[in-house]
This record gives sequence, structure tokens and C-alpha cells, in this order.
Amino acid sequence: MAGISWDAELDTAWQVVDRLYKVSISADEKGPVDKIIARAHAAEAQNPYRKDHSWKVSKLGHQLAIQAGLPLASVWEVLAAGLFHDVGMIHVPQHLLLKHAPLTPEEFEIVKGHAVWGGKILEPLKEEGIERIVRHHHERYDGTGYPNKLAGENIPQGARIVAVAEAFHDMVSDHPYKSARTAEDAVDEIRRCSGTQFDPKVVTAFLDWVQIHVDPRE
Ligand SMILES: [Fe+2]
Ligand SMILES: [Fe+2]
Repeated sequence: MAGISWDAELDTAWQVVDRLYKVSISADEKGPVDKIIARAHAAEAQNPYRKDHSWKVSKLGHQLAIQAGLPLASVWEVLAAGLFHDVGMIHVPQHLLLKHAPLTPEEFEIVKGHAVWGGKILEPLKEEGIERIVRHHHERYDGTGYPNKLAGENIPQGARIVAVAEAFHDMVSDHPYKSARTAEDAVDEIRRCSGTQFDPKVVTAFLDWVQIHVDPRE
């Protein structure tokens, strides 16, 4: 993507998660986690427009979590939650994901269900907090998001981070019915929505990330 460096040299986040899980989980937990990973891959595979979405949200979220000074355990949760955040899309019919026109309000309600579905799929990881991040990644700081209209600090911090990472990557990506916006335009939009859609502290961390990773000349 012109002008944005995602630190792709660091492997894909999937490989990182795979390695971390192998050393950190017991044999009992391995089955459920493998199933979650398989479903996350399947959810992405049904939408070619989303091919690299999860790991880019994961990478950006991971970097924002570090920049925002989160403790290591939370940084790791954001990395994993970024990969899984849209796993619930597996329950959204593919024709809606690939529709070449804006969704109707009824169709949008179905797509919105991916947050709750994702939370359900991630219940085996409830203790680690990943499930809560995924369930609440579409809440808005001003309390008008979904699924629970949580506001401000009531939204899990990891979810506030994934929200910014997801919105940025969505804006700079092509969609079936609209083309990617420029990085500059997307950054302006995130800045404009600080305090309404997004946590201002996360936006500050994001703008620091932009200084290093977005080349304004491209
Ligand atoms: Fe989402
Ligand atoms: Fe997403």
C-alpha cells in the first residue's frame, strides 16, 4: 500500500501467534484454539477484499498498544485479538460481504452481528480478555457504537485500540463498492473522530505511529 509501512518484515502475525500459543497453552486448550484459528482463516477466505486485513489490524494494534504503554500481557492480547476481531464474519452471508453497493439498513444489522458472534467463538479465550476485545471492537467512545453502547473507559482498552487500527485499515483498503482512501485522508478522519468515535489517547498513539509509518510524499 503506497505510503504506509506495516513492518511486514516481522513475519505475519499469524506465525507469531502460532508460536506464542504453542509455548503458552496446555494440551487441553490447544483443540479449541486451533478451531478458532481455522475459523478466522475461513472468515477471511470468504472475502478476498479482506485478505490481509486481520494481520494488519493486529500489527497496527500491537504497535499502538506498545506506544500507549500497555503492560506486556495486554499488548499480547491486542495482537491476538487483532487477528481474531472479525472471526464472527463467518456467520455473515458471503453475498453481503461482496455486495457491489452500499448495504441496506437490514443488511447492515446482519453484518453488525459479527461482533457478538466473534465474542461467542472466542469464549474459550475469555480468561485472557481477547473475547471482550473482539465483542466490543465496534463500540464508540461516545457510547453510540455496538453491540452494547459502552462508552469511554467502560470499553475494554484493547477494543479501543483495535477500533482505531481497524478503521484505519478499512479506510485505506479497497471494498467491493468503494475504492481505498489515501493514507492522508484516513489519518485526517481518525483525527477528526477523536473523542467521538475514538479514544483520544489511542488517537495520540496512532498519530505517533503515523509519524514513523506514513510517508506524506506518497
Ligand atoms: Fe469488525
Ligand atoms: Fe475488521
